[in-house]
Amino acid sequence: MKTNTLISLNKIAKVYRGQNVETYALKDISLNINQGDYICISGPSGCGKSTLLSLLGLLDSPTAGDYFIKEVDTKTLDMDQQAELRNLHIGFIFQSFNLIDELSVFDNVALPLTYREPAMSPSEIELAVKQALDEVEMGHRSQHKPNQLSGGQQQRIAIARALAGKPSILLVDEPTGNLDSKNGDAVMDLLDELNKKGTTICMVTHDLRYAGRAKTQLKLLDGEIVSYSEARQAPSSDNTEHALESAEVM
Ligand SMILES: Nc1ncnc2c1ncn2[C@@H]1O[C@H](COP(=O)(O)OP(=O)(O)O)[C@@H](O)[C@H]1O
Ligand SMILES: [Mg+2]
Repeated sequence: MKTNTLISLNKIAKVYRGQNVETYALKDISLNINQGDYICISGPSGCGKSTLLSLLGLLDSPTAGDYFIKEVDTKTLDMDQQAELRNLHIGFIFQSFNLIDELSVFDNVALPLTYREPAMSPSEIELAVKQALDEVEMGHRSQHKPNQLSGGQQQRIAIARALAGKPSILLVDEPTGNLDSKNGDAVMDLLDELNKKGTTICMVTHDLRYAGRAKTQLKLLDGEIVSYSEARQAPSSDNTEHALESAEVM
């Protein structure tokens, strides 16, 4: 494992077992995600994209295989330790923004920070929220309620909420699914910008226009990785070799 490896999946499988049915949602997934990567997962409905994101986000556990995050074997953690790791390292962005209508924008962004261990002080929380809202250019809306904002603005607030905890990786599921193309473009521009500034992103999208923006394309079919490619971008620095070998499939 290289020093900048954030996440390492080794032969991951996920089987959903119902009364008389078994669904093999993921089979034999091996993948490394390194700091600074920008990965797009695509594939037809039901191929396992959301399952993969929920495993990456420690919302569910694999049936088989190993999942390391920052070299910690997640199998060795109990539920509380997993929640702690999730709170510390993972930012989620969903198609439905999942904001709480009764809370102000400020309080929505602050909420996950109030669960931090060790606890953050009110002034630390205020600073982190302000920085995150400024990052998405929504600082002037901090006292609004979500339903007073457009869909695009609500998604920006959801992105601020994910960023406020300074996560190691953003996990993004169909971020533009509920947006018109103008707002969708703006949200994607923001994600591109965040990646350029160093944020690691793993995103699921159906939309091929947006998928092409990611540096790494991963295609799933019936729970398996069927193709994996990295964009051949013009070398912007002398670490081209590093860029090409990052996020490799093992
Ligand atoms: N909680 C669940 N229980 C049973 N089967 C599930 C569950 N979640 C997903 N599945 C099944 O697993 C497969 C992959 O689902 P999913 O990861 O949601 O696909 P995608 O996000 O690519 O559309 C599908 O066949 C789906 O029906
Ligand atoms: Mg899905």
